[in-house]
Amino acid sequence: WILAAQDQRLAAVREVAESWAERKVVVGTAIVHKGRMLAQQRRYPARDAGRWELPGGRVEPGESEQDAVVRECAEELDVEVTPTGRIGTDVPLDNGMLLRIHAARLVDPEAAPRAVEHHEVRWIDAGELVELDWLDADKVLVHSLRDLLRRR
Ligand code: C5P
Repeated sequence: WILAAQDQRLAAVREVAESWAERKVVVGTAIVHKGRMLAQQRRYPARDAGRWELPGGRVEPGESEQDAVVRECAEELDVEVTPTGRIGTDVPLDNGMLLRIHAARLVDPEAAPRAVEHHEVRWIDAGELVELDWLDADKVLVHSLRDLLRRR
């Protein structure tokens, strides 16, 4: 029965792993510049208005995560970025998707990101990072993001 129990446990682990592998991904972008990271404040929907998030959005079918990062930053911030690698863990979202963070840098260091569809964008340091009212999923990543800022 020990073997049977192990089989059952393995099957359960495999089921969870497969269900996560099938989930659609929402990319978030940690743009770091001169020791600060860019945060943006949502304007809608009403329940999220005023709360902060990393720039990003759904990966479209056939699109790579890196391409989604570049596209979303162009759409939301009107800047060009280069993704540099994944940060932290995947975070499950209420809608069944996974939030996955990529670090990135500005292609043009002088470029000024602007809030195209958001209320405000702000360059924040490690202290501000822990104080902002983040969306629930983004809040899970605050410690990983603080480590990222400390490394730069
Ligand atoms: O921006 P978009 O509507 O494509 O994002 C899809 C979902 O991912 C939304 O539910 C949004 O709240 C969530 N999201 C998030 N954190 C981010 C970006 C998006 O929780 N940094």
